[in-house]
Amino acid sequence: MPIRPATPADIAALLALERASLTAGHWSGLQYQAIFEPTAPPRIALLEEEESTLLGFLIARPLGAEWELENLVVAAAARRRGLGTRLLDELFGVLRSQAGAALFLEVRESNRAARALYEKSRFIEVNRRKLYYRDPLEDAVMYRLIL
Ligand SMILES: CC(C)(COP(=O)(O)OP(=O)(O)OC[C@H]1O[C@@H](n2cnc3c(N)ncnc32)[C@H](O)[C@@H]1OP(=O)(O)O)[C@@H](O)C(=O)NCCC(=O)NCCS
Repeated sequence: MPIRPATPADIAALLALERASLTAGHWSGLQYQAIFEPTAPPRIALLEEEESTLLGFLIARPLGAEWELENLVVAAAARRRGLGTRLLDELFGVLRSQAGAALFLEVRESNRAARALYEKSRFIEVNRRKLYYRDPLEDAVMYRLIL
C-alpha cells in the first residue's frame, strides 16, 4: 500500500477517520482546509489507503529547526498491521531529506497504544506537562526523536 501526500480531495475522509477515533487529535474541516492554502505555513500530511479507502494518516509541522507530529491516526480495523510504523518511517525519511533536526510530540499519558508505537519507533520521553489535557484531566507526555 503506497503512502502519498494528502490533497484537499482527502479532507472529508481525514475528518471521518479522526472523528471515529476518540484519542486522535480533533480538528475542524476549516483547519484541514487551511493546510492546503497556498499561503499556509508548510505542513506534511501523509496518508495510506487500500483500494481508495483511507486507512491512516499523519500531519506534522515545522517549529523552528524541529518538527512537531500533530496527529497520527490508523483506522480501528487496520491497527496492529504496521501502518502507524510505516507512516512514521515515511515521515522520518521526508524530514531527513529536508534536513529536519528532530521530531517531537505530545500524547495523553493513558494512550498506551500510541506511546508503545512511539517508543518502538525510538522516540525518547523528554518531559511531562502536568494535567495538560481535559475531559479527562490528564498529563501530557512529551517525546522527541533525533532524526
Ligand atoms: C496509535 C496508533 C496510530 C498505532 O497505529 P498501528 O498502525 O496500530 O501501529 P503499528 O501496527 O505500527 O504498531 C507498532 C507497534 O506499536 C505498539 N502498539 C501499537 N498498538 C498497540 C496497542 N494497542 N497496545 C500495545 N502496543 C501497541 C506495538 O509495539 C506495535 O508492534 P507489534 O504490533 O509488533 O507489537 C493507533 O492505535 C491509533 O490510530 N490510535 C488512535 C489515534 C491515536 O491515539 N493517535 C495518537 C495521537 S497522539
